[in-house]
Amino acid sequence: MGGGTGAALALGDATSLSRIAPIVWSGSFRIEVNELIQYPGLLDDEFDEEPCASIEDERFDQIYPSKVQKLSWRHWTPVTVAVEATKLLVTEPRTRVLDVGCGPGKFCLVAAALTDARFTGIEQRSDLVTIARRAALKHRLTNVEIIHGNVTDFAFAGYNAFYLFNPFEENMFQRQKIDSSVPLSEALFQKYTHYVAAQLGNRPIGTRVVTYAGTADEIPACYDCEQALFGGDLKLWIKTRDGARSIYRRTT
Ligand SMILES: C[S@@+](CC[C@H](N)C(=O)[O-])C[C@H]1O[C@@H](n2cnc3c(N)ncnc32)[C@H](O)[C@@H]1O
Repeated sequence: MGGGTGAALALGDATSLSRIAPIVWSGSFRIEVNELIQYPGLLDDEFDEEPCASIEDERFDQIYPSKVQKLSWRHWTPVTVAVEATKLLVTEPRTRVLDVGCGPGKFCLVAAALTDARFTGIEQRSDLVTIARRAALKHRLTNVEIIHGNVTDFAFAGYNAFYLFNPFEENMFQRQKIDSSVPLSEALFQKYTHYVAAQLGNRPIGTRVVTYAGTADEIPACYDCEQALFGGDLKLWIKTRDGARSIYRRTT
């Protein structure tokens, strides 16, 4: 049984999320998210950034320290987007999702509360890893795992679905960076993007990737965009063929 109790019950007998969508995405989801947003932050540091979030996100983000809350509007997935991304990624309870650059785990936490699928987040910033792990523990989300490390040291084998919220953008727009704790450069953007594209290119046909915002430079040419939501900001990509000559869908 996973962390999303209501969703877990619904998914237990289902082979396709769409078949049980009305059950999962109405009552069960509300119960889980309302439980998650009851908890106050862990720390209370100041950070010089202006928040601009929906009421739903302001409430959810209260599980985080104030410094992390203030970064949310720019750097963490909105709750409504996380819900739709989960629907696009999880096709069965055994789906294994990797969030590339998971930050404090907002996508993983929302998604894990919704389904019995397993969510792994990899994150290079150790303080965000600690915050994400504490939140998962506190809310008894046993289907979430947070790994500390650089994505370039991590193999994508074993995952059949991937979530990317513009993970490498701050290398290109450093005025919008999260903090100064990691090196940032255009060369690193290229290196990380190339690595992810190569890993995704090696996954089997049928692999699903959801990108949120950005230009989806990490998506190889062997993937097609099958669906777009939120005015095109949220895209579902599915690997449809092998042997693409170029791993890049477009020149970066
Ligand atoms: C835009 S945030 C998205 C956070 C989370 N996925 C979400 O949707 O809420 C991107 C995150 O990717 C992390 N990141 C960037 N490059 C990384 C790398 N090479 N390895 C691991 N994490 C990385 C950043 O530290 C940041 O927390």
